[in-house]
Amino acid sequence: MNQKNVQSQKQNSVGMELFGEPVQVFFSKKGSARLPRIARGEGIYLWDKDGNKYLDVSSGPVANNLGSGNKKVLAAMNAQAKSAAFAFPGQFESEANERLSNLLTRLAGEGFERAFFVSGGSEAVESAVKLARQYALSKDQSSRWKVISRQPSYHGGTLGALTLTGDTQMHDAFGPLLKGMPKVRAPATYRLPKNHTIESFARACAAELEDSIMSEQAETVLAFIMEPIGGLASGAVVSNAFYMKEVRRICSKYGVLLVHDEVMSGAGRTGKFLASDHYQNARPDIVVLAKGIAAGYTPMGAVLASDHMVNAVAAGGGFLNGFTYFANPLSCAVGYAVLQEMLDCDLITNAAERGVELKHALEELKNYSNYVGDIRGKGLLLALELVADQETKSPFSSNLNVVVLFQKLALKNGLLIYGRRTNYGKFGDWLMITPPLIITTKQIVELKNNLVRTLKDFERCVPVNLA
Ligand SMILES: Cc1ncc(COP(=O)(O)O)c(C=O)c1O
Repeated sequence: MNQKNVQSQKQNSVGMELFGEPVQVFFSKKGSARLPRIARGEGIYLWDKDGNKYLDVSSGPVANNLGSGNKKVLAAMNAQAKSAAFAFPGQFESEANERLSNLLTRLAGEGFERAFFVSGGSEAVESAVKLARQYALSKDQSSRWKVISRQPSYHGGTLGALTLTGDTQMHDAFGPLLKGMPKVRAPATYRLPKNHTIESFARACAAELEDSIMSEQAETVLAFIMEPIGGLASGAVVSNAFYMKEVRRICSKYGVLLVHDEVMSGAGRTGKFLASDHYQNARPDIVVLAKGIAAGYTPMGAVLASDHMVNAVAAGGGFLNGFTYFANPLSCAVGYAVLQEMLDCDLITNAAERGVELKHALEELKNYSNYVGDIRGKGLLLALELVADQETKSPFSSNLNVVVLFQKLALKNGLLIYGRRTNYGKFGDWLMITPPLIITTKQIVELKNNLVRTLKDFERCVPVNLA
């Protein structure tokens, strides 16, 4: 045993080995329990090394749309890995890339004839902004560079994507490294500002976008990015149809490109292939996808744009963007198999139909606990907002991290739930109820019964924590 091995036997103050250890060492707090260790997954269930079984309520971080162990995807992965796991797009075209591109753009429809593949949502958001900028340059609009985004919102964890993310907690931490980008309010639907209805607040937020474009000087504004149906940052807020139409009108009026971040809402999760498909006369210029398009079987993100936009960028000298793993054949083959499986099993319809059942089941939870405030979302992109009081809608004190408490109790009951406090909890606390799109009616009943049990446990714990 050499010197390093001897040292690795020592433990640090949190009881971890001094060298190595899993990535959780970056997050662990003193005294916090270690997470279960994954053994295997099958369908919507996962098992840890101790044999405990968990129902995946949130598809991991809303990614694992097909559940675990899909045999067709695994076969496609194996076949591609055997023939050519990796070939760089700067040196080779690949059939896997072309097949995925054809299928994905057909699913997305008119206006999205081209797809650029990267390794995740943050890379895709940044690639979308770069594409937008190069498109503006191709039209001699070099003055356009500002990207307006919304508060609250999440567009990724890399520094470029963080400039767009509407989360003060993140901006407090990384502010000096970020370029400030204008933010406008995203229309909430539950706790509304005084004297507002859902509709009037949506109108006010749309008007705020127009004001922001004008005050920034329209000729400097490149794009507006928004999640058409919210993810974690808003807890699945569904945009109102008027707002969406108005946003489209305003962007077109000022020549601002409209980008829909569908990293969470895309790939069938809301009961249509794109969440944008729920809205008329509101189609964006660019769509960003990730998560569900490869369903957790490989890291993958995508930018969709029109052939017109891509042709202009290509003619202007070509897209100045690329990564070692962009459009890699292995990920593309996996992405194709995932989308094909989604179509073969009609999972978009399942998301719509099971989504209605699940939402109804979640609504019933309000009868079991005064702490269940709002249930919102579309298809299988749903969120449950926890409140201190159902009647007044008042949120829990921001010192209490009720999401973490609920997650811990749920884990003990065999439920894996994704949620994370954003914006210091300013907008509230919610859990993502976003199971894999393969969930059945029977499994929804199981999920609901287990949530009822967890809510009872939560009721027992909360007063203690409030004291
Ligand atoms: C709406 C949205 N955009 C972007 C991202 C970033 O994606 P990734 O974590 O794959 O980089 C996420 C991740 O949760 C997201 O929800």
